[in-house]
Amino acid sequence: MLEKNRIYNMDCLEGLKRIKTGSVQAIITDPPYFQGLTQDGTRGDFADLEITRPFWKGLAREINRVLKPNGEFYIFMDWRGFAFYYPIFAEYLPVKNLIVWDKGAGPGSFYSYTHEFILYGTKNTGLRRGGTNVWRVPGFSVGAAGTDGEKIHPAQKPVAIIERCLLDSTQEGDLAVDLFGGSCTTAVAAIRHNRQFVCFEVKESTYDKAQRRIALEKEKAAKGDKTDEDTRSKWWRDPPPGL
Ligand SMILES: C[S@@+](CC[C@H](N)C(=O)[O-])C[C@H]1O[C@@H](n2cnc3c(N)ncnc32)[C@H](O)[C@@H]1O
Repeated sequence: MLEKNRIYNMDCLEGLKRIKTGSVQAIITDPPYFQGLTQDGTRGDFADLEITRPFWKGLAREINRVLKPNGEFYIFMDWRGFAFYYPIFAEYLPVKNLIVWDKGAGPGSFYSYTHEFILYGTKNTGLRRGGTNVWRVPGFSVGAAGTDGEKIHPAQKPVAIIERCLLDSTQEGDLAVDLFGGSCTTAVAAIRHNRQFVCFEVKESTYDKAQRRIALEKEKAAKGDKTDEDTRSKWWRDPPPGL
């Protein structure tokens, strides 16, 4: 079993294999988006992803193994990746909904991209969740930079959207795992809300940046500094005007 409350500079499939069966309350993760396609979706080829299919199947099986019997998962993706990822995850995981994250603004020349998807599911057959599957939380272009600071990763998620997943699906002390850590926003949210975490990030330079971010967050938590927590967790309950 891996030590908790740490980021690991390793491939997440290898990492998951070192996690005990039925020990994870929530998987909250944001895999690389549709490789091969550019921002406007015109270049690259859907088939480019085929070579990675065995990896994703293995990962889906491992997610299912490590989740607790009442565990839940949130897997971020955009409209391009969805077509590839959905059939794979749905084969091995109890998918229950596709959440639409309305982030308020985004790039794009053929209507702008203002939403992303979050594939949601749970192994808990008795669980029911209220609320809608459209979550309005500002992205970086409409305010997240004002509370989260400058992005240190191009695909960084606002803490508030990760908090929504974390707080819905875990209690204090529970373990949340992020397979594709990036700047490790999941770890930031976990530290702020007294959850345990394990994050994987394969790229060394990104891992180094995430390590610094997490060290700072742990330092703030040790000092009892709740300033950021108050601002950021408020967003998904009370979005700013226009969202
Ligand atoms: C979309 S980004 C995640 C961004 C993150 N949610 C954040 O808030 O910063 C995906 C990350 O997964 C990492 N990655 C790609 N393949 C991986 C693998 N097999 N194992 C672990 N990390 C991987 C990439 O280096 C990249 O930093």
